[in-house]
Amino acid sequence: MSLPFPPQIERVLYTEEQIDERITQVAAEITARYRDRNLKLIGVLKGSVFFLTALARRLEIPVKIDYLAISSFSASKTVPGVVRIAKDLDEPIEGEDVLVVEDIVDTGLTLRYLLQTLAGRGPNSLGICTLLDRTSRRLVHVPVEFRCFEIGDHFVVGCGLDYKQLYRNLRYLAVMKLESKG
Ligand code: IMP
Repeated sequence: MSLPFPPQIERVLYTEEQIDERITQVAAEITARYRDRNLKLIGVLKGSVFFLTALARRLEIPVKIDYLAISSFSASKTVPGVVRIAKDLDEPIEGEDVLVVEDIVDTGLTLRYLLQTLAGRGPNSLGICTLLDRTSRRLVHVPVEFRCFEIGDHFVVGCGLDYKQLYRNLRYLAVMKLESKG
């Protein structure tokens, strides 16, 4: 069963099968890296929820899961925004091996802020795992350790990614018809 193809969708970028296959591969890498450690996945609401769930189900190690939400304010699309935590984690992360799970790393501004904030809480390690990585628009360096797909400069929805809060529930990743050019 699949959803009707929405009119604002230009084309499918990755199918459900391709996404599943790639998440399985990345989950195996994470399992190997974090075996015998205290892994905690931190999901950034709301976009990472679908990806985090799919990833966590494929990990062959016990993990803790926590979530936080970020708000960003920007005067314009080209001016870097101000980021703040809108909903904090429920539990401390001191001494834990933390993997921040994102839907997409774009400019990197959100994650830079997040990593700085979380680093101050004394985790044993702090890494990044993202479904999508768009390095062409990066403004600040962030150390992405695990990524499923590198994508070009088009606006993508599905698998948790939204356009005006819609399309998060698409099982595939798709390019929107209106092109986002920063
Ligand atoms: P960054 O701070 O520029 O790296 O912003 C990352 C955030 O921007 C992601 O967590 C998404 O919420 C949003 N975002 C960036 N590109 C897209 C896209 O193509 N589709 C949907 N959301 C996007």
